This record gives sequence, structure tokens and C-alpha cells, in this order.
Amino acid sequence: MFKKLWFAILLVLSLSVAAPHAGAQRKAVDAEGHEWWQHAVFYEIYPRSFADSNNDGVGDLKGITERLDYLKELGVDAIWITPCFPSPQVDFGYDVSDYEQIDPIYGTLGDFDRLVSEGRKRGIKIILDFVVNHTSDQHKWFLDAKSSRTAAHRDWYVWRDGKGPNQPPNNWLSLFGLSAWKFDPTTSQYYYHYFYPEQPDLNWRNPAVEKAMFDVTRYWYKRGVAGFRLDAVDTLFEDRKLTDNPLLPGTDKFGRPKTDEKYNKKLPEVHDVLRKLRKVADEHGAVLIGETWTSDINELKEYYGEHGNELQMPMDFMFTEVNKLSPPDFRKQIAAVDGAGGWPVYVISNHDIVRSYNRYGDGVHNDAIAKLMAALYLTLRGTPILYYGEELGMENNDPKSKDEVKDPIGKLGWPLEKGRDGERTPMQWSDGPNAGFSKATPWLPVPPSAKTHNVATEKKDPNSVLSFYRQLLALRHQQAALLDGKYIPLNEDDPNVLSYLRQYKDESILVVLNMSGTEQKVRFSLAPQGFASVKLTALLADLPGSIQASADQLSLAPFSVLIAKLSK
Ligand code: GLC
Repeated sequence: MFKKLWFAILLVLSLSVAAPHAGAQRKAVDAEGHEWWQHAVFYEIYPRSFADSNNDGVGDLKGITERLDYLKELGVDAIWITPCFPSPQVDFGYDVSDYEQIDPIYGTLGDFDRLVSEGRKRGIKIILDFVVNHTSDQHKWFLDAKSSRTAAHRDWYVWRDGKGPNQPPNNWLSLFGLSAWKFDPTTSQYYYHYFYPEQPDLNWRNPAVEKAMFDVTRYWYKRGVAGFRLDAVDTLFEDRKLTDNPLLPGTDKFGRPKTDEKYNKKLPEVHDVLRKLRKVADEHGAVLIGETWTSDINELKEYYGEHGNELQMPMDFMFTEVNKLSPPDFRKQIAAVDGAGGWPVYVISNHDIVRSYNRYGDGVHNDAIAKLMAALYLTLRGTPILYYGEELGMENNDPKSKDEVKDPIGKLGWPLEKGRDGERTPMQWSDGPNAGFSKATPWLPVPPSAKTHNVATEKKDPNSVLSFYRQLLALRHQQAALLDGKYIPLNEDDPNVLSYLRQYKDESILVVLNMSGTEQKVRFSLAPQGFASVKLTALLADLPGSIQASADQLSLAPFSVLIAKLSK
């Protein structure tokens, strides 16, 4: 049985005064200048799957409004809603056909305004998802663009002649399979689409596109939106000469030759647009979050902008790529992001990534591991973005056969690529039918684990993953050291236990995470932090079995967490 130790434990340990730890982060953080989004906990909502108020099997905005109190109690300060604009729903909203309306499946502009005002009453801000790279092929801009080569919006998209009969302009590939070019017989030219053919890329080299898109942000800022998550920013620009991408060895999951996407991804012009978008955001005190897939820390750094004038919150996806409970790997990634000069943004899962419960769980200690991961990304210096359901220990529910798949990439890539349905299943509100999400059959099935992992059941259980998240988020809001404190890694050569201090003025919080399935003994040398001997007061702990503390040693049960305040 897991035993929880809440505020009750007072451990008095004299910690040894030994050699200083290597590589401590000493960079001061100026707490005075922090903005709201730096102290906020963000929560990502996939609206199709969060709460269905009209019982049609698909979630909606009213459903979200009805659940604001739940989010408030959880400790959420801002919600990012994935696209809820009118859309043919080929890519479930990431194919927008009108940027300034709400899709009727989700409600009306009135429902949206109500969500903003109800959110405001509870101190919860609303962030929208801005699909900047492409529109739907049903957007009026594209319908006009494809009508003739001289149409007013023709140059709003990327059109080219083929290389020859049945030959696309170059070898660029769509992320979602096949070529990135689609032939349009009406005007006998190809148009470019990095994602599905139903998602034609906008031509950001055209100033009219830039203006129209900036106006979209202004429109929503005026409606009370606190910022945007910018979708797919890497692919805004393409090489003017459409140079073929170099081939790489091997094939991808669709069986196509791999290519180095140097001519259609991460072009320097992206940063010009981000700087301009930021200017508009600054006029409205808004925050920009980026979907920034980067291969190294230098690439990530660029998204903050040389003068901190691009994205305030580029997401660190390299963190999600540490796909095992590996203290050395996490340590390395945290140190890199923490030292990058910008404000770190931590995520462990989202609507495109297999849920963390499956990625880190060992099948036996999954709940303990879910709490361990929570304790990691919610105690680091930076802003966490929590994907809905992570706080319950929701798991992926992947389609069992190709016929069940809803996400087109799963249909195309089956069985190697099963698509993203698994991580997008309905929020689990209760152990009732359809997990309390809807009275109708939900658009995606709920997994059997919804019987145990749901809000109603977990609320009653002080040992649940949900109870742990709630305690942890409360702590995060109370403790200045967790919000503003420096990140100081400890015991950097420990392969099993990840430990660090968060230090702010004279307050220090110690976080100890046993990432192994065996009991671990740890001792700390805190003299370099000014502690000759310390009192350790546990603020939050999830320690299966009992905690044993000797003079200078902590015993940690498998996958246990200790968050403790230090005092001299
Ligand atoms: C982003 C979204 C993803 C979508 C794609 C195309 O990667 O997160 O869900 O399919 O952009 O818009």
C-alpha cells in the first residue's frame, strides 16, 4: 500500500558538509519582472473530448464553461483550447475555414464570450490555437485562389507548375504522407500543403496574408483572448527556388525515402513573422506559445528571439523526447533549457503525443510514476502546460483495427502509424456510462481504465493521481521558491534519483524523485548552498512504504517523491 505523508512529517536531518556538487545553476532570476504567464499553470483542452453539454458525442464550449470550477479547484490559471473555429474537421479543427467564428459543433460566438467572462470571474484566461501555416481548402481565400490563376487570392497560397506531366514541382513530402503538392485541374497548377491536401499552405511572403492574419489576432484580443498557441510555426516559409530536399538514408513510417527538410522548414524568415506577431501581442499584453519542435537547445533559443522579442513560451518538446525515467537524460535537458536565457515551458504530453502514462508507466507502478512525472514538470522553473486528463492518469486508448481509426494519418500509415486518436479520448469525469463525458456515444471510445481513473472517483481518494496534482498545484501557487526560485541540480551523478533545489531569496525547496523501481538511499551536500545542517520539512510526499531518515541519508521507496522545505 502507498502511504502518503502530507504536511505532517518533520524530518530533522543533519546533512553532511561534503564536496560541492558540480555544475550548479547559479544564474539569478529576477522575480520582480515576472509576468502572469510565468506564474500560471496552463491546461490544454481538446474541445471535441473535454465535456459534451448537448449530448451529441462531441465536446463543446458550454461544456468547458460548465467545468471551469473543476479547473479552478485543480489549480489551473489559463486554458489553451485547440482550434474551435469553423472547419471541415479533416484534421479535427486544424483545417480552419473561418478564423473569426466558432464551429457550430462547439457552439456560438456568444458561448465563447461567456466562456471568457466566466473564466475571468475565476481568474482563468483563455488562449486560442492559431493555425498560422495553412487554412482549410474550404476557406473562402482558398476557394477564390483556386478559381483562376488571376484570382485576387491566388498568391495567398503557394502555386507552381509541375516539373513535367504528372510530376510535382519538387520532391517535398507532406508530413502526413505522400507528396506535399496537389494538382488542381481547374488551373492546371500544383498547390503546396505540408500537412493534408485539405490544408493548403498560406504564402507568408505575401504582405496581404500577413496583414489578414495579424488582424485575426487583433480580433480575438479584442474579444478577451489572453494569447495564442501558434500551430506549426516551423513550416511558415518555403525556399523561393523550391530546391529539392536532400535525400537521407532509410525510409520513414509511410515507407517514403527520408529527406532533410532544409528547404521547407525552419527558414530564417519565420523569425521575422514571429517578431511582428509579438509586437501585436505586446500591444494587448498577450502571450505567444509556440509549437516549436527543435532538435537542439540552440534552435529552441532562437524562438525566444535575440532580444526576447519573439515567443515568450516556446514549448520544449525535447523534454517529451526523454522517453524513459532517466535522471541523467532529464538532468541534461532541464539544465539546457534552464540555462537557455528564456523562460522554460514544460510539457509531458499533448494531442499529438502518446500520453505520459503509457510512455513512462512500467505496467505495475503506473500511478506512482504518474505522480513522479507530475512532481517533475510541476516543480521546475518555468511554466507547465498540462494536457487534459494527465491529472487523472488517463491512458492512451489506441484503435484496435484500421476500421476504428478516425485520424487520417492513422488510416494512411496503419499499422506502423496508428494516428493520434489514442491520446484524444473523452475526458473521464465519472465511472458512469461514457465516463460521464456525454449521454450519446462519444466520437472516440473511452478505455476500460475510466472506471477507476476518473474525476469523481479520484476526488474521493486522497491517494489518487488527481489528489496529488491538486496538492502539488496548490503548493506551486503558494511557494515563491517553486515559482521563482533558481533551479539547482544536486547529486548530478546519481543514475536513479533526480534531485534538485529551488532557491529563492532565503527559501529553499528540495525535490527528490526516485525514478527507479528499487529502494534508493540518497545523501545531500548542501554546504555550497549555505546549509551546514538543515531541517527538512516535507511539504508533499508520495512515498510507498515508509520513509527512513538517518543522520545524513534518506531512504526512498521505488518511484517515490519527496518535496521538502529546507530551513537552517
Ligand atoms: C500541429 C498540431 C497537429 C496538427 C498539425 C497541422 O502539429 O498540433 O495536431 O495536425 O499541426 O495543423
